[in-house]
Formats: sequence, structure tokens, C-alpha cells
Amino acid sequence: MILLALACVEPVDTAGPGEADTAPPADTGDSAAPLLPQPAPAEDLDPDESVVHVALEASPLSFEVNGRTVEGFAYNGQVPGPLIRAQVGDTVVVDFTNHLDAPTTVHWHGLAVPAAMDGVTWLQDPIQPGLGFRFEFTVTEAGTFWYHPHLDSDHQVDLGLYGVLLVEDPAEPAVEQDLVVVWDAWGEDPEADTHTAPDPSSVVWTANGVVEPRLELAAGERVRLRMLNVANLSYLDLAWPGLRQIAGDQGRLAALAAPESVLLAPGDRAEFELLPTASLTVETALHTASGGAVPGAALPLLQVVLPAEQPAPEAADWPFAGGAVAPDPGTTDAIYVFSGGGGDAWLINGEVYPDVTVQTLALGRSSVVEVRNLSSTEHPFHLHGHAFEVLSQNGEAPAAREVEDTVNVGIRESVRLLVHADNPGDWMAHCHLLPHAEGGMMAVLRVE
Ligand code: C2O
Ligand code: CU
Repeated sequence: MILLALACVEPVDTAGPGEADTAPPADTGDSAAPLLPQPAPAEDLDPDESVVHVALEASPLSFEVNGRTVEGFAYNGQVPGPLIRAQVGDTVVVDFTNHLDAPTTVHWHGLAVPAAMDGVTWLQDPIQPGLGFRFEFTVTEAGTFWYHPHLDSDHQVDLGLYGVLLVEDPAEPAVEQDLVVVWDAWGEDPEADTHTAPDPSSVVWTANGVVEPRLELAAGERVRLRMLNVANLSYLDLAWPGLRQIAGDQGRLAALAAPESVLLAPGDRAEFELLPTASLTVETALHTASGGAVPGAALPLLQVVLPAEQPAPEAADWPFAGGAVAPDPGTTDAIYVFSGGGGDAWLINGEVYPDVTVQTLALGRSSVVEVRNLSSTEHPFHLHGHAFEVLSQNGEAPAAREVEDTVNVGIRESVRLLVHADNPGDWMAHCHLLPHAEGGMMAVLRVE
């Protein structure tokens, strides 16, 4: 059954702007599932090789998900928004215009941009309807990043305002297909801003706007899948035969990983090299913020279709980052304690944003930030402007060096993070369950 009839999420009454610019391969006819589309790329307005200059507009858009019309929003008339592709070292210029009837901002999730470009209302007046803002920054690390509003985000991101910014490193090997897969979760009523985690078995997931699409591979093809979870409250717990992870939030891992499963909390990214020997179904186990793994059948997310069984294609030679897990210096420079959730208030250190006590890290030092969760739900902790290394989760060091910008903190868990405080300014430190963040679960970490 096709739950969502349109490739990428397209406007209901006009054709085309959400479509990828390359025609999908011809339908083989043996499956009713739509093909996995790619978000149309952003047009680069600057001929200079080292400058990516993009025009970005936020507007209202009606589109269809799971058989119902969503009165939502879109960047450049498409959901996900235009794919911005840059190379390490490039300057990115984004001329943004707000055609919504409400104020907004654009935040560059995972990128170490200057504080004035971070798109947060703590530092910048919201961009009013009809007005614009020029964002300009240099991208220094390869990886899969994303952009979204940082204002009324449980509404604006939820209803379609998100897009991917890829930073490529010329040292990375070419693969036959390099694909982004933006996962979003839709509840019974896509327009309800729920404050409680939905039952994970009732959620409908879309990949680039499509429910359970199929990805057709030719024999021997290597595929790089860059996955992002942009959902408000829903978690993905991915597993498939031969799962191989090459990158996390902040680019390539220390070494190739073959985990049994990968948890993608809201805000998280992970990259995989898919080397299938047979057609397979990418599935998610059931996981909820209000209690972790849930028993129940895994949900199919994506069909990978091969013409015939084959030996696994050879793995590409990824220039992994290397490095060991850093030793914990034992000191703590900032502490965040998650609590609340009884009513609508979600707290950090007993405070509700924006009435928060600013904590400070010394510029140029490696500092430890500890996050403790005393509430009755999980929370993905996200820090702006910096990458961090996970030192330990509940006292246990990770198996390999993990460089992230978003890390899930389970109920009663604590995590210790090593932050290389090299980007001066005020940075949001918050839960990436967007109704929690908008409900007050956001703090400010100053680096000076
Ligand atoms: Cu993805 Cu503070 O944001
Ligand atoms: Cu939270």
C-alpha cells in the first residue's frame, strides 16, 4: 500500500519542486513501493569553486503524508529542503528569506559556525515575516549536518522545515550511490504538538517524504547511506544483516564499526556502507523516550532490492579518523541535570529557558561536561557550535572513540563529555526532543 503517493513531499496542487533533478530509474514493476527519492539539490549561485551560495526561502506548504493533507511549511517548496553540498574548507553563504506568517531562524545543526551565525534567539532577533538574513560561514569538517528553525521548533521543524547540508572530503572514496535518508515520524495527527512520546508502533516513518520506499541496486554497487532523524520525539533503532557504520554525528568514526544496532535519537546522524548479498529490509526496533526498547515487531522502513543474490561488494577504503577513547580527566567543568515533565515544564538544573544560569568554559581548553538524567524519560543532549567526545556513559567508556554533537541520555543515566572549547560565544545546550526544548529544556554554555 502506498501511504504517501508523492515523491519527496510535494505540494498538493502543483507539481515538481520537490522532485530530485535526476529521473529515478525505470520501475521494474514487481513492487508497488515508490523509489527512494533524493532531495533536490540547492542551486549554487556562485561560480567560485570554493563558495557555495544558496537562496533559501521558508514558506507555508500543503503536502500529503499518510493519506492526509498537512498544512505545513517547506524550504524552497520541498520537504526535505534543498540538499546543500559543500567541500571541506568551502565558504557557505545562505541568503534566507522568511515567507512564513511567523518569525523564524535557521540553525546549522552540528556545524561549528561563528556564534552570530548560529540562528538562535538567545543571540539573534527572530527573522520576521517578509524579512531575510544572510548566513555566512566556513565548513571545516566533513560530515552530514542539517538545518532547521530554532524558534517554535516543535511546530516549524515538525511540519516540514528541515534540510541537509553535506560536507564532503576529497579524501573519501567514491561509491556508486551516495544517498541521504532523512527520517521523519508522523503521528495520527501530524499537526498535533504532543508532549508525550508516541507509541512507537503507531508512528509512520517517512524517508525523504516517502513511506517505506525501495532502493534498487545494480549488482556489485556500493551504497553510502547518510541517515538523519529529524523527528520531534520518535527514536529509530536500526538493524539489518551486515550493518556497517562508517560515520556518526561528526563525520567518520575512528574505525569501521559493525554494531548490532544503531540508535538514532532525534537530531542524530549516522552513515553506513551498505554491502548487501541479497535484497533486505531496513527495519527499526521499537524504542520510546519514555522507556527505551519496547517489545513488539520491528517496523519495516526501507526495502533494498538487488537483482539477484551476490557476494558482498568490496568495502570502500574509508580514511577513518583513528584515535583512542580519551581518558577522563576526572574533573567536571559544567553539569546539566535533566528533570521535570510532570506538566509542560522540562527543566535543566531546575531552570526553564530562557531564565537560566549561564555556565562558562575556558576558550581553548578541553573541558568536561556532565549530563545527568533524573527525569522519567530519555533525552538526547545536543550542544551547539562544538563537537564532543563521549568519555563515558553510566561510568563506562565507549568501545571506540565517539565524536558527536547529540547523545542520548537514558533514564537515570549520566554521560561525561569532553568538549574542545574552541569556538567563542554563547551556545545552546539542550534536549533535542523538540517539545521538551520548547518547553524549557535548554541551557546556555558560554565559551570565553
Ligand atoms: Cu538541531 Cu539546538 O538544534
Ligand atoms: Cu527531553
